[in-house]
Amino acid sequence: MPNDPAAIMRLIEEIDRYLADLNGDGLDDVRQGILRFGQGPVNDSVKPAPPACGHLDAALLCMRGADALRHAIKEARPQLRWITYDAYPVNEIGKRFPVAHAFASLIGRDGFVPADDFELGLFLIAPRTLYRDHRHKAPELYVPLTGPHEWRFGAGERWSEYGAHSPIWNEPMRVHATLVRDIPFLALFGWTRDVTVNAVVVPASDWTEIEAGL
Ligand SMILES: [Fe+2]
Repeated sequence: MPNDPAAIMRLIEEIDRYLADLNGDGLDDVRQGILRFGQGPVNDSVKPAPPACGHLDAALLCMRGADALRHAIKEARPQLRWITYDAYPVNEIGKRFPVAHAFASLIGRDGFVPADDFELGLFLIAPRTLYRDHRHKAPELYVPLTGPHEWRFGAGERWSEYGAHSPIWNEPMRVHATLVRDIPFLALFGWTRDVTVNAVVVPASDWTEIEAGL
């Protein structure tokens, strides 16, 4: 049982404040979801669990700027339940990703604040990980809190570097992949609808080569 539900609500409020200062597609969609679903009360049956992939300490140390948000994450941290996304077949997503990522839902089906078709949370990827190309029906906002990291939007497309606090909005079924080198990836994520439709891996011919170089 969360010993400080107010810390969870303060984190959700701080995320909303942080998003309000950014510009880009999808930010309003996520803020509307927070407004619609994020008022609480906090579900007190969520059991804390640290991220099995580790690297949360290092990720928080790598956060520059957004001091109020970093503080709110630290305050809520003892209560966060970090789990993994298990919808991908391991022969498609690879052996590393399943043990090199974790997410903590704040608003959502399994989040602190229940929502039926919206999800907001924190996402963590360990260094030297390729999150292989994939897509999903849910429109998705990522706001990396660390960086830079590399992204591409189509198997075989060129990689682009995105710094911390640069939002990335993925329209439904947009193919995307994330390349995490030495800096751990910590991000906010929001899925604004169709959250029950699983993501699928999109094959690319260069995974082996990229992963060998990490
Ligand atoms: Fe995604």
